[in-house]
Amino acid sequence: MALFALGGSLLGACGSGSAGTVPKAPAGDPELVLGQSVFADHCARCHGSSGRGGAGPRLAGEEIDVDVVRSGRRGMPAFGSKLDDQQLEAAAAYVAAVL
Ligand code: HEC
Repeated sequence: MALFALGGSLLGACGSGSAGTVPKAPAGDPELVLGQSVFADHCARCHGSSGRGGAGPRLAGEEIDVDVVRSGRRGMPAFGSKLDDQQLEAAAAYVAAVL
């Protein structure tokens, strides 16, 4: 199983988006831009590139419970050791505001 090859790619993501086909965050909002990249890299494969659900439930427009993301729940993997609080909050903000 492939490990997440994230490393420094968040900060190096300028321009040629690692973001794939997920909806674009407003460029002027650094938190949402970070959240877009976190979502694209870690969440879209299960929750769908628009957050409308897939292997995981629909998230689009929902208030995200960051504790579920941090600790995991049933089929939802724990991200607490992969993503820091800033990344988790950014992903939650992106899901609520952009998707
Ligand atoms: C391996 C597939 C997978 C990945 C990757 C994944 N999820 Fe999930 N997620 C799930 C599943 C399955 C559930 C349903 C868990 C349950 O039944 O309790 C879920 C549940 C959730 C929930 C709770 C939804 C609710 O209605 O209570 C949130 C919030 C969530 N995911 C956010 C995220 C975020 C943010 C990411 C990226 C950092 C992510 N998920 C990545 C599969 C995934």
